[in-house]
Amino acid sequence: MSPASQPPTWTITHLRHISLRCAAFDESVDYYAGPWGLRTLGDSDARTALLRATGAEHHVLELHRADRNGIDHISLGLADERAVDAAAVSVREAIARWDGGDERAAESPLGGTTAEGARLLSEPGALDRPGGGYGFRLADPEGRVVELSATVEAVPTLAADATPDKLAHVVLNTADIEALCAWWCEVLGFRVSDWSERQMVFLRCNADHHSIAFNRAEWASLNHVAYEVPSLDAYMASLGRLNRAGHTVGWGPGRHGPGNNAFGYFVDPAGTVPEITAEVQQVDEATWVPRTWPRIPELSDRWGTAGPPSPEMRQHMAGTPD
Ligand SMILES: [Fe+2]
Repeated sequence: MSPASQPPTWTITHLRHISLRCAAFDESVDYYAGPWGLRTLGDSDARTALLRATGAEHHVLELHRADRNGIDHISLGLADERAVDAAAVSVREAIARWDGGDERAAESPLGGTTAEGARLLSEPGALDRPGGGYGFRLADPEGRVVELSATVEAVPTLAADATPDKLAHVVLNTADIEALCAWWCEVLGFRVSDWSERQMVFLRCNADHHSIAFNRAEWASLNHVAYEVPSLDAYMASLGRLNRAGHTVGWGPGRHGPGNNAFGYFVDPAGTVPEITAEVQQVDEATWVPRTWPRIPELSDRWGTAGPPSPEMRQHMAGTPD
């Protein structure tokens, strides 16, 4: 039976946080807690920093002191502990189906979902981390660690200002965009919002046009991480704040076609690419029809203000192989 014919009894509600290994830890903490506009939590120490936005999510960014950059894990939210338990059962079954001869898995360069690929890394249980909660971890076919959790401690919201209120999206480079897209949709329940030719695919788990996107590349790595601010005015003020602190925007200001979001891409002290975004398109689940956007300047840069990304920006977006 096709996994798609069994609608899950659980859904991912939102993107919680991204956890990064960081080769320039001290400088990066200063950057994100300074001009980027996040706030360091008291649980931070000399090896790990937890940074929150103004929204209720416990933290949106974790940085771990490391020798080289990489993704530690991506955290996704579920509604409650029952949903987490249902997800663990469903994910295990879906991985077994892919392992058990799904044609796309067999034909994919990613191969079957063997011990080297997709698997559950832990059973549902209490998470022994700041913010707590209940969840489990899995590895996707390219070995990315994904944590699904519920009942993580919320933090009191702060007054909205010209700083990020949430994590908007994570874009991941992949060596097999077709297979990985199918896997994230069928195993984790994401939906395709749009394609940008066959170069990028934008996936949603709620009304936001995308929370995860994949970019066709030579290796699996992080492309960029986007933080949302509450208005176009806050977006321009963010670019101004970073500019005055000596961090000029590397690509932007501009507005994308797919997702219709305003964008401004920077390079952090470790060489990772963060994005300030605003006005992300909201999708009506019942009526949305995915489309394939041509990759032409008028649609990649609707305002005509950004131009194409520089070779240096593209190099940073290619990331370090995970
Ligand atoms: Fe983005």
